[in-house]
Amino acid sequence: MAIERTLSIIKPDAVKKNVVGKILSRFEDADLNISAMRFALLSKDDAAGFYAVHKERPFFNDLVEFMTSGPVCIQVLEGEDAIKKNRELMGATDPKQADAGTIRADFAESIDANAVHGSDSSENAAIEIAYFFPSMNVYRR
Ligand code: CMP
Repeated sequence: MAIERTLSIIKPDAVKKNVVGKILSRFEDADLNISAMRFALLSKDDAAGFYAVHKERPFFNDLVEFMTSGPVCIQVLEGEDAIKKNRELMGATDPKQADAGTIRADFAESIDANAVHGSDSSENAAIEIAYFFPSMNVYRR
């Protein structure tokens, strides 16, 4: 299996709940390395740019509102099959549909306040990592 990178965001609801460390441990326990990380308070433009693929969706404005409601913790995760592995750790987008033991089942309240974001493909992972991290700031093992 290939070593991949994926972008992960611990969203404002999870940062407010003070579960950043617990969520990061899930990644580390699954052999995903944290290669870059920072907190940020996103502007409306930052969030709208990041989620530009969802611009036409009915939930877009609420999504931007939510993602700018408090600080987020953004990280690059690196490891074997990292994109799929992270999506398995996160669970379904809607926490009500998420399997027991996943991050969203354990820490999320709703489809909007769903604790984490993770890239859904290698193309999007590359775009999303570049959106938040200059390449010199991503640690290579
Ligand atoms: P995320 O993985 O960050 O990608 C887009 C986000 O939009 C998603 O998680 C959800 O938090 C939010 N969202 C709100 N409503 C929906 C919906 N109906 N379908 C998909 N995503 C939604």
